[in-house]
Amino acid sequence: MIKEIRIDTKVRLNNGVEMPIFGLGTFQSRSGKETRAAVLCALEAGYRLIDTAAMYGNEEDVGEAVRKSGIPREDIFITTKLWNSDHGYDKALAAFETSRKKLGLSYVDLYLIHWPVEGLRTESWRALETLLRDGKCRAIGVSNYMTWHLEELLNNSSTIPAVNQVEFSPYLYQKELLEFCRAHDIQLEAYSPLTKGHMLRDPKLIAMASEYSKSPAQILIRWVLQRAMAVIPKSSNRERILENADVFAFTISPEDMEALDSFDEDLRTSWDPSTAP
Ligand SMILES: NC(=O)c1ccc[n+]([C@@H]2O[C@H](COP(=O)([O-])OP(=O)(O)OC[C@H]3O[C@@H](n4cnc5c(N)ncnc54)[C@H](OP(=O)(O)O)[C@@H]3O)[C@@H](O)[C@H]2O)c1
Repeated sequence: MIKEIRIDTKVRLNNGVEMPIFGLGTFQSRSGKETRAAVLCALEAGYRLIDTAAMYGNEEDVGEAVRKSGIPREDIFITTKLWNSDHGYDKALAAFETSRKKLGLSYVDLYLIHWPVEGLRTESWRALETLLRDGKCRAIGVSNYMTWHLEELLNNSSTIPAVNQVEFSPYLYQKELLEFCRAHDIQLEAYSPLTKGHMLRDPKLIAMASEYSKSPAQILIRWVLQRAMAVIPKSSNRERILENADVFAFTISPEDMEALDSFDEDLRTSWDPSTAP
């Protein structure tokens, strides 16, 4: 576990690039004013990682907010993702270029395969390797990869993904996947850490949150951080963006961490890669 976690704490990825452990998610953050305001608010509050995707339709707004913030480009870490209909070597290269242009950036920090599309993902990974080699992105990784998807990739490539971004929360404690990633030096990044809001009224979570004088959302985010994963809670609301960032001045006890582990009920609030061949 990282000893003292701060909002600007970074993890060193397997290619040496440093990635903030805490960032803003932007799925369902509407294009236009909503995303621009959310990203700007987050950057002003100290967030330094912004997670977007071609599929979210808000890359232009993310790029605009980054420029408007006045924060040096190299101090901000931008992740975007290859959408499912853009798989294949040439299509993936072209899709990356479209994303890069929409973001208005000369490079992307982390480019991920959004979903392990059967039959095409190995070819797409070759395209990401090319992008990495050409300096168009600083790190490449995957998303929604289960252990067998990762094994297939590792058997077909010498480039180990820097990151695997998957759904992860106490309600979906994918311990085996976490251990697999750790053993292969792949940084796990937790999406939907707030269960998209579904479990925030769970009485046992509320009870624990009140012991720490914290909100249920803050407990869920802190649990991920103390399990040494990166985390990208989404909010488009100023108060909640600030609330979600206020997780660095308290520690969940080892006993309560274990209690949270036991909340696991295999709850998926996004799509389910566990059945993806
Ligand atoms: N790679 C993938 O396949 C994948 C899939 C899903 C998500 N992601 C990434 O991970 C990010 C986070 O996941 P997510 O957006 O699915 O879900 P999430 O972060 O678990 O939850 C977001 C929801 O919770 C609400 N919320 C945020 N903070 C709150 C708080 N403090 N108290 C109460 N409600 C709160 C938000 O509403 P408001 O906006 O109104 O605050 C929103 O409805 C995404 O935005 C995206 O960047 C990736």
